[in-house]
Amino acid sequence: MLHQVEPIRLGIVGCGHATSGLHLPAIRPHTDIEVIALADTDAARLEQVADEFSIPGRYADPEALIADPSVDAVAICVPPEHHVPLAMAALDADKHLFVEKPLTLDLDDAQRLIARADRSDRAVLVGHNLRHHHHAVAARKRVQRGDLGSIEFVHAVWSSRYRIDRDFPDWRRRRATGGSALFELAVHYLDLWRYVSGSEIEDIFASSRSGEADDLTATVIARMADGVLVSLAFSQYAATAHDMEVFGRKGRLRLSLCRFDGVEFAPIAQFPGSPGDRLQGLLRTIKELPRGVASASRGGGFAESYRDQWRHFAECVRCGEPTMCTLEDGKLAVQAALACIASAESGRLVRVADAPSSTAVI
Ligand SMILES: NC(=O)c1ccc[n+]([C@@H]2O[C@H](COP(=O)([O-])OP(=O)(O)OC[C@H]3O[C@@H](n4cnc5c(N)ncnc54)[C@H](O)[C@@H]3O)[C@@H](O)[C@H]2O)c1
Repeated sequence: MLHQVEPIRLGIVGCGHATSGLHLPAIRPHTDIEVIALADTDAARLEQVADEFSIPGRYADPEALIADPSVDAVAICVPPEHHVPLAMAALDADKHLFVEKPLTLDLDDAQRLIARADRSDRAVLVGHNLRHHHHAVAARKRVQRGDLGSIEFVHAVWSSRYRIDRDFPDWRRRRATGGSALFELAVHYLDLWRYVSGSEIEDIFASSRSGEADDLTATVIARMADGVLVSLAFSQYAATAHDMEVFGRKGRLRLSLCRFDGVEFAPIAQFPGSPGDRLQGLLRTIKELPRGVASASRGGGFAESYRDQWRHFAECVRCGEPTMCTLEDGKLAVQAALACIASAESGRLVRVADAPSSTAVI
């Protein structure tokens, strides 16, 4: 375990959008994490990001970063097909490990990584950042405390054309390389609902529309082990929305992850749009405004989710506590996403337990 005052010396493999746009800005305020090295096979990208964030260590070969004895922890932020081999190398080198979602393209590889991690005492965290979004944390508390009563159904939408309008690397275009809304985006919400409800996804029906890339717009219907019905919609083309609504026998909970006042609970007797409902909404906005202004100055709820994720990682490295998103969680989200793809492909309902083992065999 590291001494209290020493920062954790982190090396990041991959200098793409996730690293430069999300993780490095999120780590910057944490004085207990120091990014000492970056690796990328694209030399120009490596230099550009290392210069921008004044990071001294620069490696063209990710294995050399992992072998660097001054690195305590390694973050794997490359396209998903490279996650498991690099994560395995990091554990073999006795490093603490952060690995981005989707964990893998292949469930057998995930199982091998889990077996390797079981023989390690290092902290291991999978990057499902929505678990750290404060609205998701609040929703989990309310659902698990029973505020909504028994849950009947859940509806969620994730839509944004941000990336397709700016940069859309080749790996994001194809299911086979871990891209597509049904894989790369779906794992976020499949994991989020497991996290909020504490229940497992049992079966899935999905349909999708492809165009210049696989599954640009997709819908998923799922049944949880506790009987809850879930519907999800994803799009890389349509207007932005990151919303989830949970309907229980005692009330309704609406989460809008983009809004500072995005957690709304209404008891069953409250009619949507009624004067009481609208007044409650107004008072909530006023109450949340100071926090919203403070949050906006830190980049908003999404940016804060990455910051909180890194705070949690640092705490787990220091205390040896288990992380809140394990390799098993990462694997289960991928297994559900594989069931989504298999269902969209076959037009049939797919049991998650019977999902194909890899994007390569669909
Ligand atoms: N948690 C989130 O919200 C979130 C957001 C964006 C991306 N991601 C995930 O992060 C990962 C990276 O996504 P991205 O958007 O940064 O991708 P990207 O395509 O923008 O960048 C990937 C970078 O990795 C480099 N690279 C590829 N193979 C490599 C290797 N073997 N060794 C070293 N460098 C290598 C590329 O040169 C590129 O610079 C993906 O798994 C993605 O799903 C997560």
